[in-house]
Amino acid sequence: MSEKISPSKRQSIHGQWSSRLAFILAVSGSAVGLGNIWKFPYITGVNGGGAFVLVYLLCILAIGFPIMISEIMLGRRGRRNPITSMELLGREETGSGVWKFVGVIGLVAGFLILSFYSVIAGWTLNYFILASKGTFSGLLPQDVNQVFDNLNQSFSTQLIFHTIFMAVTILIIAKGIRQGLERVVKILMPALFLILMMLLFYVISEGNISEGFAFMFKPDFTKIDGSSVLAAMGHAFFTLSLGMGCVVAYGAYLPKQESIFKTTFAIIFCDTLIALVAGLVVFSIVFDNNLDPSQIAGAGLIFKTLPLAFGQMPSGVFFGSIFFILLGFAALTSAISLLEPSVAWMIERKNLSRQLSAIIMGSIIWALGLLTVLSGNELSNFTFWKGTLFDNFDHLATNILLPTSGFLFTVFAGWFMSKKSSSDELDINRKFQYKIWRFLARYVAPIAVLIIFLNAIGIY
Ligand code: PHE
Repeated sequence: MSEKISPSKRQSIHGQWSSRLAFILAVSGSAVGLGNIWKFPYITGVNGGGAFVLVYLLCILAIGFPIMISEIMLGRRGRRNPITSMELLGREETGSGVWKFVGVIGLVAGFLILSFYSVIAGWTLNYFILASKGTFSGLLPQDVNQVFDNLNQSFSTQLIFHTIFMAVTILIIAKGIRQGLERVVKILMPALFLILMMLLFYVISEGNISEGFAFMFKPDFTKIDGSSVLAAMGHAFFTLSLGMGCVVAYGAYLPKQESIFKTTFAIIFCDTLIALVAGLVVFSIVFDNNLDPSQIAGAGLIFKTLPLAFGQMPSGVFFGSIFFILLGFAALTSAISLLEPSVAWMIERKNLSRQLSAIIMGSIIWALGLLTVLSGNELSNFTFWKGTLFDNFDHLATNILLPTSGFLFTVFAGWFMSKKSSSDELDINRKFQYKIWRFLARYVAPIAVLIIFLNAIGIY
């Protein structure tokens, strides 16, 4: 495959974002998800709080920042879906189209992740209904645990909510960049921010904000070890949606005149702020109810501990409902970014309409998601390698495929792309930022990602 058009003149056939703000909201929508509101508070809890938060922030700056810039840049220069963009750029820069496999790995990871992400997002919809009906009012810990276990064991309930969530995701993608994605993020992102602010004001007036604050921001370095540093690095990756091709795909719709440095700053600021505020809200509620943050493992924090707290507090029905709807919104804007790359690929390579491509890709992912649904019930005893099918999907995608493609994206951008091409695509006038980016993208980020990767496969 070859193209005669010069890279800076290439256009995407899917259209462009209408403004810089639309792009920032879309990538922030992708970044802000279950990772920020569910996973970040939980891993901060088990890793001892403040010192972990500091290491995480460092990872965001040293790894997340250069890789995000690289991915947006590759997307905008290729102007195609992540696979074709990498093939095209690979040929232009190195003479070899084999780089397309980096896009393939990312797309496969996105497929797997969306299949289980949608099931978990379905849980949040179910919890929204339960919370709004007052189900949690006055429940004891064992009852709340029972609610979660019942859901996990019910094939039909999970099936219904997983189906609803995937259907909405498909619908948005089918409508295209401006009519679908952009319209949704422009409504949901401010809504999400507003809800989070309401919850923040609630914990300031009613919760135990001082203890929550101290836990999140007072570093105690005795609590940090090698594994928490690795957890912080891995999470920086996941929370910024890196390595999956989502950012590359969204970058392909970014108008040429927009500064990649500026937009990346805004996106990372937004993602980090929301994670920190979400952590503050969650821990202020946890401490106010005399619960122990380090005891709360995995899914438990959001689906077992918080409902308990909502069940005890005065306006718990209201705050519980808006909390779970917040989580659902955050998950939806991430889910659409997980579906877009493969749909863009199908439109471009198979010449199908956007509607049909969205339905086909969405349905395959929906069907794959059934295996996650079954992992909680019929297939809960079918375990190998890392556990249930769901555990294996999560491990394979998050710990193996993501670091691999993220590493290759940044290595390509830093080492294989000529200085002329990258400085042409990034702001040429910003020499200082460019130098920092290139140093981080060539040395710091690849080495750090390599360490995460080796750790994930058990070598390091
Ligand atoms: N960044 C999202 C989150 O924090 C997860 C995600 C990963 C979304 C990769 C899209 C792509 O939940």
